[in-house]
Amino acid sequence: MRKPIILITGINGEIGHGLVEYLSHKGNYSIIGLDLKPPNSFIQKRVDDYVVGNILDKDLLERLNAEFEISAIFHLAAILSTRAEFSPRIAHDVNVTGTINLLDLAIEQGQSLGRAVKFFFPSSIAVYGISNSNLRDNTGPVPEDQFRYPKTMYGCNKLYCENIGTYFARYYKRLSVESSTNLVDFRSIRLPGLISAHTMPSGGSSDYAPEMIHAAARKNPYTCFVREDTVMPFMTMPDAIRAILLLVKAPESSLSRMVYNITSFSPTAGDFRNKILSYFSDAKITFEVNDKRQAIVDSWPREIDDTSAREDWNWKPIHNFNSAFEDYLIPEICKKYGL
Ligand code: SER
Repeated sequence: MRKPIILITGINGEIGHGLVEYLSHKGNYSIIGLDLKPPNSFIQKRVDDYVVGNILDKDLLERLNAEFEISAIFHLAAILSTRAEFSPRIAHDVNVTGTINLLDLAIEQGQSLGRAVKFFFPSSIAVYGISNSNLRDNTGPVPEDQFRYPKTMYGCNKLYCENIGTYFARYYKRLSVESSTNLVDFRSIRLPGLISAHTMPSGGSSDYAPEMIHAAARKNPYTCFVREDTVMPFMTMPDAIRAILLLVKAPESSLSRMVYNITSFSPTAGDFRNKILSYFSDAKITFEVNDKRQAIVDSWPREIDDTSAREDWNWKPIHNFNSAFEDYLIPEICKKYGL
C-alpha cells in the first residue's frame, strides 16, 4: 500500500516554513518536503520525511509517484523576480518546466486514485505589468483580469503557469479517447510582497521591506534599493498562510475562478522606514535607488482588488499596516533576536 501524503516542494523557502508550521499541527496526514538542500531542524521536526532533489529530475518524481499516494501538492519551488532576471533561461526551466513536471505528477496520481489531486500554486503580483507610470498612479485597485502584461521573466512564468494549471485541471488531453479532465484541482493565489518575522526572502524585488525590518532589529544599517515614495502591496506571512489554507479547503462549488488576488496594505517604502524608526529609534535606513530593480517594482500595481477572494472564500486579512507591526512583526522579531 502506498502511503497517503501531502507533498510540499520548495519547503526550505519562506512560504514552506510558514505552511509546514501550520500543517504539522493538524496531524492526520503525512507531510513530505522536497527541496534542493536538506531542510533545517525547524522543518525537519515538522515533516514526516523529506527528499533532497530537483523538481526537474523526472526520475525522482517518478519514484515519488510510485512510492506515495499524494492527495495534495503545494508547489512552492520557484526562482523569484530579481534572481530570475540574471538567469532567465534557468528561471524558465525551474518556474515553468518544474511546474509542468509537478502537474504531470498530479495527473498520474489523479488517474491512479480516481479523484482530483489538490494542487496549490503561489502566483504573484508580478503577473501584472503597467509600463505607464501615470496610468499606474491613477489606476485604482487592479482586479484579476486587467494589465496582465508582465515585465519580468518571473512574471511571465507565473502567468503562464496560472494558465497551464487551469488547462491541466479543465482541458487536459480533451480530444483523447480517455478524457483526463478533473484529475487536478488547481487553485492559485497571486501573492503580494510577503513579510515574515522568522525568515528572510532571497532574490525577490519586494525584499526591501523585510530586509529593512530585520536589519533594524539586528542593529545593522540598511540601504533601501527603491525610492522612498515607492508603493506596492504587502502582507504578513501568517495572513498569506491563512489565505492559502482557506482557499485549499474551500468547497469547489464556492469558487468562481482558479486564480485569486489577495491583498492587505500598500505602504510606501518611506512608511516602512518611519514605522521601523518608531520602534527602533536608532535604526540607520537610507535610500539609494537601483534603477533596474525600481523599474520592476514600478511595473506592479500599487493596489490590487481582492473582491473575488472575499466573496468566494471569505478572505479577509487579519493584519493591517499598523497591526502587522504591533501584533506580529515587532513582538516576534524581538523574540527572534533576543531583544
Ligand atoms: N515577492 C516576489 C518577488 O519580489 C513577488 O512575488 O519576486
